[in-house]
Amino acid sequence: MVGFRTLKRVAGEIRRDVRAAQERDPAARGVGPAEVFAIWPGVHAILAHRVAHALYEARVPVVPRVIAGFSRALTGIEIHPAACIGSGFFIDHGMGVVIGETAKIGDDVTLYQGVTLGGTGFATGKRHPTVEDNVTIGSGAKLLGPITIGHGSKIGANTVVIHDVPPNSTVVGNPGHPVRIDGRRPEGPDADWVHLPDPVADAIKGLASRIGALERALAERGGDPSEVGPEPELPQVRPARGPNPAGG
Ligand SMILES: CC(C)(COP(=O)(O)OP(=O)(O)OC[C@H]1O[C@@H](n2cnc3c(N)ncnc32)[C@H](O)[C@@H]1OP(=O)(O)O)[C@@H](O)C(=O)NCCC(=O)NCCS
Repeated sequence: MVGFRTLKRVAGEIRRDVRAAQERDPAARGVGPAEVFAIWPGVHAILAHRVAHALYEARVPVVPRVIAGFSRALTGIEIHPAACIGSGFFIDHGMGVVIGETAKIGDDVTLYQGVTLGGTGFATGKRHPTVEDNVTIGSGAKLLGPITIGHGSKIGANTVVIHDVPPNSTVVGNPGHPVRIDGRRPEGPDADWVHLPDPVADAIKGLASRIGALERALAERGGDPSEVGPEPELPQVRPARGPNPAGG
């Protein structure tokens, strides 16, 4: 039996989800809560999910997935009934959003269209991202695997994130890399952890140029110059280009 307290809590959640749309969608400024409730697909999707999730938690069979399926058909937003989503959640535009089974989303999170909170393969257990409070995820961003997006962070449109993101950061690109942490560009000698020195490659390079010098010296002392090989071409064993993951 659904008690008065449950109804009060659900009403509070609906109010907060509708208010989230009014506050965070510039197109909803000046639009009344009833209109947002009736028309905004992101609001429909989260309300349907809240019902599906409650039934899933109550171990009701089949119905949660049916609700999730209808909601997907209506809104283009696919949320697994098991996904845990905090209050004040808002999906703007919505179409193409996928939120996986073991995803966890904190309070006051905003998603734009085309966002995926997905897994990376056929692993079982926790395999989808955890998104902490007050995170904004831009359109088309893909967040893959059991990573954690720290509170207050922003993920740029079309970013692909496969590693944890520290709190209060802005992450952009593919692969996603922080370009702001606490409002500042990451900097300093330890900021770039991809383009590290490679002592083995440096040693091989040194030996190769010494062999070349020896061959030239031998040729000058009367050897056959045609036996002097060309300067060996060394493969680049560490990335010379590409974004600094710290963005410094
Ligand atoms: C990332 C984002 C949240 C901006 O965050 P911000 O903290 O204000 O960061 P800034 O605008 O100062 O940009 C920081 C840097 O990232 C770059 N950047 C911003 N967004 C980017 C993106 N999506 N992809 C690649 N680089 C991006 C900026 O050029 C800037 O580079 P710089 O350090 O060389 O100057 C924003 O650009 C974004 O992508 N928002 C999503 C919006 C969206 O999806 N809208 C859909 C509406 S329908």
